Amino acid sequence: MYQQTFAIIKPDAVERNLIGQIVSRIEAAGLEVCAMKMVHMSRREASGFYAEHEGKPFWETLLGNMTAGPSVVMVLSGEDAIQRWRELMGPTDPAKGKPGQLRRDFAVSMERNSVHGSDSPESAAREIAWFFAGVELHYREH
Ligand code: TYD
Ligand code: MG
Repeated sequence: MYQQTFAIIKPDAVERNLIGQIVSRIEAAGLEVCAMKMVHMSRREASGFYAEHEGKPFWETLLGNMTAGPSVVMVLSGEDAIQRWRELMGPTDPAKGKPGQLRRDFAVSMERNSVHGSDSPESAAREIAWFFAGVELHYREH
């Protein structure tokens, strides 16, 4: 099924000059970028985005890491894009991933794990709408 998913190249990866390498892997995997911009998230923007995690032990660390510098936010599309992007990223804890998965190859730690991806169609729709207006999306279904 053709899908769109929401992706972030997090501040830890932008800071280490990894934008191009990560976008190259996305393209090599056959996913298409259909929206992209840089944002330096405010605490309010990061809190709303990650609202499901509010109150968890890692909440303050998460907000600190997501607001530490600019991120690249993207919409990716393709056949089964949600699952394929999660597979390319690898598990939340980079040490549990396989070589070739972005978090395993690039992340600093579980807290600074370089990339985000939506986990379901519902979260993809919510996350895309949190950062992009409809006119910023370029449909690439073909
Ligand atoms: P989560 O949604 O569980 O993981 P994922 O990004 O794989 O969907 O958690 C969101 C982010 O919160 C995660 O990418 C990094 C951070 N985090 C921590 O810093 N410590 C933790 O113990 C967990 C579970 C997440
Ligand atoms: Mg998640």
